[in-house]
Amino acid sequence: MRISVVGCGYLGAVHAACMADVGHEVLGIDVDERKVADLSAARAPFFEPGLPEVLQRTCATGRLRFTTDVAAIARPPGADGPTVHFVCVGTPQRRGEFAADTSYVDAAVSALLPHLRPGDLVVGKSTVPVGTAARLADRIGEAVPGAALAWNPEFLREGHAVEDTVHPDRIVYGLPPDPDDARRAKALLDEVYAEPVAAGIPVITADYATAELVKTAANAFLATKISFINAMAEVCEAAGADVTTLAAAIGHDDRIGARFLRAGLGFGGGCLPKDIRAFMARAGELGADQALTFLREVDAINMRRRTRMVDLARQEVGGSFLGRKVTVLGAAFKPDSDDIRDSPALNVAAQIRLQGGDVVVTDPAALENARRAWPDLRYEEKVEVACQGADVVLLLTEWREYRGLDPASLGEVVRARNVLDGRNALDAQLWRAAGWNYRALGRPRG
Ligand code: UGA
Repeated sequence: MRISVVGCGYLGAVHAACMADVGHEVLGIDVDERKVADLSAARAPFFEPGLPEVLQRTCATGRLRFTTDVAAIARPPGADGPTVHFVCVGTPQRRGEFAADTSYVDAAVSALLPHLRPGDLVVGKSTVPVGTAARLADRIGEAVPGAALAWNPEFLREGHAVEDTVHPDRIVYGLPPDPDDARRAKALLDEVYAEPVAAGIPVITADYATAELVKTAANAFLATKISFINAMAEVCEAAGADVTTLAAAIGHDDRIGARFLRAGLGFGGGCLPKDIRAFMARAGELGADQALTFLREVDAINMRRRTRMVDLARQEVGGSFLGRKVTVLGAAFKPDSDDIRDSPALNVAAQIRLQGGDVVVTDPAALENARRAWPDLRYEEKVEVACQGADVVLLLTEWREYRGLDPASLGEVVRARNVLDGRNALDAQLWRAAGWNYRALGRPRG
């Protein structure tokens, strides 16, 4: 298949590389020259385990190319057969509003229109407010009769993006209302996804609106699950109970399930926070706002965890941050990523800094991004250096290297052995045995 991918961020770059890896001819397009230069040289422009290897493999075959010039998607002379164009651009939260900004999706479709041919298929992957696909399909149908649109939401997690793209747990096709267009779109998508389809990955076909909603509903459910366990953590804190034991116990019930029940500092990143807000905004526009008012509470519980962490840290250093050194382990919104969008860790670090604390942040992969976004914070590459003279150490992103830290040797460099485990990721007994005052969200003082 000839494939183009518009938008080479966390989603598009991985999608482009994995599609080329299974044998398709792929052209990735992005407006960011630096990103295109990196990808063309088979370098991943962001931290994503496994991506550099796939890029090196596929760029060497000549099947994967990147450009900033959208005109390069024009069908080469002599080439026949349709092209499938994936739209993988971002839909960030609009400034000062809950709604999603879909202007990048519109711009991507506008850029594609002059190059579309009858028979081509545009496939939306971006997370969009329900109704967007129908609107875009009208635009495409009017401009290029015979070209069609499908909506094929993406469920990949950063840090596992390659694995999730190659072995998704389901594939959703949102197909056009016209039965002939739908048949043609499905046949093209089946060809694109021939490998996972042959491997028996479930394929769910739906109308546009349902396909769009599958994505937002999935993220809303995941956010709700995290906030549910964090609400339990609040109650556990009040009652002197242990949320990690509670989560393990309820997780044994298959109907509940143990995954995504990790209590702690809550969710951040470029997806869950803005997706639940955009979902509420869209439901309001549709007159169904009451259906999603609970997501306000999900959001509020999530944000309260950050304030709670700041309060606990202040308590640990004696009631005021003035003259106190606070070391923050982790800047990325989660481990195995250098993404700092809405990072709970950086949010906590910034709040403590505002309250007069001397904050030092360390992270194995996200320091460059963090420095650019939060230039006022102090950064150190090495954990031991970052912890020197600390009055309290906060574990806010549970990188493997932090989970495996030796509390005894770290105890030698800090001023006071106070550790706050914001992700319930450290071995409490081990840290306490090494003389640390260990505290965690949702657990008794010990
Ligand atoms: C999320 C979804 O998991 C993906 O399925 C979806 O495709 C993606 O958004 C998207 O919309 O593009 P992602 O943002 O990469 O993926 O990260 P998650 O693994 O979902 O983690 C989100 C946040 O929740 C992180 O800050 C993580 O630390 C936190 N989290 C996760 C918890 O606090 N507790 C948990 O039990 C799990």
